[in-house]
Amino acid sequence: MSNRFAIILAAGQGTRMKSKLYKVLHPVCGKPMVQHVVDRVNRVGFDKKVTIVGHGADVVQEVLGDQVSYVVQEEQLGTGHAVMQAESLLSDKEGTTIVLCGDTPLITEETISQLLQAHEKKQAQITVLTAVTENPTGYGRIIRNQQGLVERIVEHKDATEEERSVKEINTGTYCFDNQTLFNALKKVGNENAQGEYYLPDVIEIVQSEGGMVGAYQASSMDETLGINDRVALSQAESIMKARINEAWMRAGVTIINPAQTYISSDAEIGQDTVIYPGTVIQGHTIIGEDCIIGPNSELTDCKVGNKTTIKQSVVSDSEVGNEVNVGPFAHIRPQSVLNDQVKIGNFVEVKKTTMGQNSKASHLSYLGDAEIGKDVNVGCGSITVNYDGENKFLTKIEDRAFIGCNSNLIAPVTIGEDTFVAAGSTITDDVPSKALSIARARQVNKENYQKK
Ligand code: UD1
Ligand code: MG
Repeated sequence: MSNRFAIILAAGQGTRMKSKLYKVLHPVCGKPMVQHVVDRVNRVGFDKKVTIVGHGADVVQEVLGDQVSYVVQEEQLGTGHAVMQAESLLSDKEGTTIVLCGDTPLITEETISQLLQAHEKKQAQITVLTAVTENPTGYGRIIRNQQGLVERIVEHKDATEEERSVKEINTGTYCFDNQTLFNALKKVGNENAQGEYYLPDVIEIVQSEGGMVGAYQASSMDETLGINDRVALSQAESIMKARINEAWMRAGVTIINPAQTYISSDAEIGQDTVIYPGTVIQGHTIIGEDCIIGPNSELTDCKVGNKTTIKQSVVSDSEVGNEVNVGPFAHIRPQSVLNDQVKIGNFVEVKKTTMGQNSKASHLSYLGDAEIGKDVNVGCGSITVNYDGENKFLTKIEDRAFIGCNSNLIAPVTIGEDTFVAAGSTITDDVPSKALSIARARQVNKENYQKK
């Protein structure tokens, strides 16, 4: 196999997005669109990957990290000018260079591989990935000659009425013979409607010099959607969402209503798990088998075991074990660990707290900065008083403790093993194991008070 290189164009501002966020960083199914492109490229495998950055260069580099090399395009003078910036890194190479746009996040690995194969098999100088669409507005049109060969690409803004009626479009992804690319780029001018150096102009140059230009048609337009505005962004979101949901359903996950289920492209879900509508699964969330998630739950960067139920709840950056019950209406905040068979019921908030196996907080509690052992029962309305207005303190509740309803545990404090805390207590001091602690005023009954 010959050498393969990739250039990803990501320097444009994305004026049509009308956004403070740089276009290629707008997320699709929770991930910046340019990251989707880089992920695909990584999976196909290239000898060198160069991303052209400009607008928001720092932020884009921060997001993509060291997965790719970077070249800064100081001024955005067009896609041809952008590719030219990679000259110093690539111009001495022999092989195939694929150019992709950072704003086409739906492109698949298969299509990239097929395009490369078609290009290399034909030994073409250029192979353009094209697609046919009923609504080609905004895209460059593929102009073929009488033999049906690609002659040139004309941008929508430069096209005549007749050219605009062409439905075959330039997807913005191409394979080039690397030497041909950098030689032809030197000859690209900017006399066009946008005053830009267009990468697609390379095609006419190479063609007129007798080079072979091929086209590979993508099987569906969906893959090649270029996102230039928020309307296209929402289309990309819904196409990718449908794709992700379908893949999980085919892998054995039940999704009751895919139209109302949002799963990040980095999530993983086990067999026979059932996802109810209104559920949003974000980030690198991993869910085990036989779980019930939703309706109306939001999980972000969580790890969930098997046979766990999470209903009408929000869980972030936490670990949830096997056979755990969360909700309805619970909030599990970052750095929490719910071990196997834990139960967190309605209106319970848990933050940076570990709960041991089979411990329960079934109703109306706040558990923050706590280490809770096994088989603990936290009664209704009990809270850890973890914050004095300046600092946070730890509450420790050891195995089999029983915290009566409506108790305040004022941290730092330790409640020993097998203890009972009487309902309504405000606990300020440690409770030794096996003790009963009562910390509340004694009841006084004033007889015949009503008469007085
Ligand atoms: C481009 C193609 C068009 C094609 C369409 C597919 C050109 C001239 N036109 O148009 O034929 O149908 O993509 O989606 O190439 N960029 C830079 N530096 C620049 C300009 C752009 O890095 O100076 C980057 C952008 O960040 C973007 C990509 O190149 O990721 C494409 O630019 P964009 O302005 O979106 O081009 P389109 O008008 O969509
Ligand atoms: Mg575009």
